[in-house]
Amino acid sequence: MVVSLGTALITGATAGIGAEFAVQLAARGHDLVLVARDEQRLERMADALRGRGVGVEVLAADLSEPAGVARVVGRVDDETRPIEVVVNNAGFGLHTDFDLSPVEDEVRLLEVLATAPLRINHAALRSMVARGRGRIVNVTSVAAFAPLGSYSAAKAWLHTFSRWANAFYRPAGVTVTALAPGYVRTEFHARVGLERSSMAPEWLWLNVEPVVRQALRDSDRGRAMSIPSARYAVIARIASALPLGVISWVARRERWGFSRRRG
Ligand SMILES: NC(=O)c1ccc[n+]([C@@H]2O[C@H](COP(=O)([O-])OP(=O)(O)OC[C@H]3O[C@@H](n4cnc5c(N)ncnc54)[C@H](OP(=O)(O)O)[C@@H]3O)[C@@H](O)[C@H]2O)c1
Repeated sequence: MVVSLGTALITGATAGIGAEFAVQLAARGHDLVLVARDEQRLERMADALRGRGVGVEVLAADLSEPAGVARVVGRVDDETRPIEVVVNNAGFGLHTDFDLSPVEDEVRLLEVLATAPLRINHAALRSMVARGRGRIVNVTSVAAFAPLGSYSAAKAWLHTFSRWANAFYRPAGVTVTALAPGYVRTEFHARVGLERSSMAPEWLWLNVEPVVRQALRDSDRGRAMSIPSARYAVIARIASALPLGVISWVARRERWGFSRRRG
């Protein structure tokens, strides 16, 4: 039996980066609360992780819906079962230009990428600051470093918020780390019907295991930001320094964006 290091709550824990956080946090000895929409998949994931000797709860919630977010906030607020680590990871992309995208899809995107993390950060910080300890990892993106559509705008909110929150709450014993990955091999792109090979050359794709390993190492060190791999550290630096004219040219190139015109 592994001795628990406290409970970690992970949103989007059934696939990709979130599933890897679950595996690595379980290996460190954390009990887990797994959040996603697909209940059967959550149960399968929980069964596999219980086999590693940690306690696992599942919480089925759609983070684009107020009721789903409220369930997660309610669990974070429960002081009888404190949450020591929060990973705000759930997310998705859209594959249509903003003006052609149904506005309700855009609102759902903002709810999942920004509003739900805002509410969960708020609840977590309230109880963690009161306890004088805790850590939060907010999964943003290198897309947060350049204005490239509504996805990057939502990620930029979470990224800037995390950097501020780490500076503000670290003296109170709570760290907030923005994990800003580049392209990672997960289900993310297939879910919006994108072929990985059409998006970026193979050398730009990262595997989840080192991405999460570096994020947890940076969180251990109380860093405000984690950008896995040297190549993406360089890309993020360049992206934040690019003149608007270059950004506009890049934004218009179909293969770099998540959004393309229909048809
Ligand atoms: N992959 C990349 O290249 C990349 C790069 C930069 C940043 N990111 C960010 O990394 C995070 C994880 O992405 P990933 O690549 O691991 O994606 P993924 O493999 O598609 O996994 C997404 C996870 O989020 C859950 N999820 C999606 N919509 C949800 C909703 N409305 N409510 C609750 N859970 C929801 C999914 O489970 P259910 O479908 O069952 O809900 C799944 O567990 C996202 O925030 C993404 O923006 C990804």
